[in-house]
Amino acid sequence: MKPTIFITRKLPDEAIESIKSQYQVKMWDSEDVPVPRERLLEEAKTADALLTMLSDKIDEAVLTAGSQLKVVANLAVGFDNIDLETATKNGIAVCNTPDVLTDTTADLAFGLLMATARRLVEAAELVKKNEWKSWSPLLLAGHDIHHKTIGIVGMGKIGETVAKRATGFDMEILYHNRTRKPEAEKSLGAVYCSFDELVEKSDFIVSLTPLTNETRNMFTRDTFKKMKNNAIFINVGRGPVIDEQALYDALVEKDIAGAGLDVFVKEPIGAEHPLLALPNVVALPHIGSSSVETRVTMMKLCIDNIKAVINGENPTTLVNKEWKPIQLVK
Ligand code: DGY
Repeated sequence: MKPTIFITRKLPDEAIESIKSQYQVKMWDSEDVPVPRERLLEEAKTADALLTMLSDKIDEAVLTAGSQLKVVANLAVGFDNIDLETATKNGIAVCNTPDVLTDTTADLAFGLLMATARRLVEAAELVKKNEWKSWSPLLLAGHDIHHKTIGIVGMGKIGETVAKRATGFDMEILYHNRTRKPEAEKSLGAVYCSFDELVEKSDFIVSLTPLTNETRNMFTRDTFKKMKNNAIFINVGRGPVIDEQALYDALVEKDIAGAGLDVFVKEPIGAEHPLLALPNVVALPHIGSSSVETRVTMMKLCIDNIKAVINGENPTTLVNKEWKPIQLVK
């Protein structure tokens, strides 16, 4: 019997051709609509491997639906959608896609920072709507980026790569992280500081921190009040690290100057989301790693991880380092 792989979204042939002959590949047939929960639970009963999206909730019910599940390969660097404890307890390897998306996600973060600071979306809309009537001295005047201070919250690989881009803009770089990064301090001139100091001193606060019990709601009303009035807040990590109502209030009351958001508390957001009514908010649909090249590479990495686990080898990018195949657990 061929091992069964269930893929929760339609992926291009290019990404899955290497597994078609050796595995039974089952795939949800939509690119845009998430797999319904019942179908995911049904497929999990017989799957050896799941290739999942960050929008799929891979909880205890999914992880224990069947007895042959060996690996969950998530098409993302983040894995807050997966119940790691249950996976480890049940001998299921959890894999993610770090490294291959670092530059692409850093490009998006810096692009979003620039778009928000220089009001690029508003400006492009003005032209497209035929509302550009004359050149004027302060037409859509934004905020400078060069020589300003950027504060990076979450100095992992993506954070360091954003910092590298900031050096090209002669920015002063502050960072806050669980652990100090002496290498980044030396090579990029990044300065470690406390969370409070970072939010008080930065012109641009960029959140790239993963979602954990410690980071959930770390940006509160109080945090936004501490920021400079000209500060711009960028979030390319995970939505729930901020209190969205607090951000809304901070923008309306002009505690800060703008926000660029690629992630939200509950995704996708609809047109009725209060933040979308604010002109100083640039909102994107969680596309941090979304370049064609990177997404295909991420898909291939997921497939390689699945193949490794099914063949009894160690996957390249294992998240639950304490994982042991089920035979060894029991
Ligand atoms: C991820 O992969 O977790 C990020 O959200 C990139 O978009």
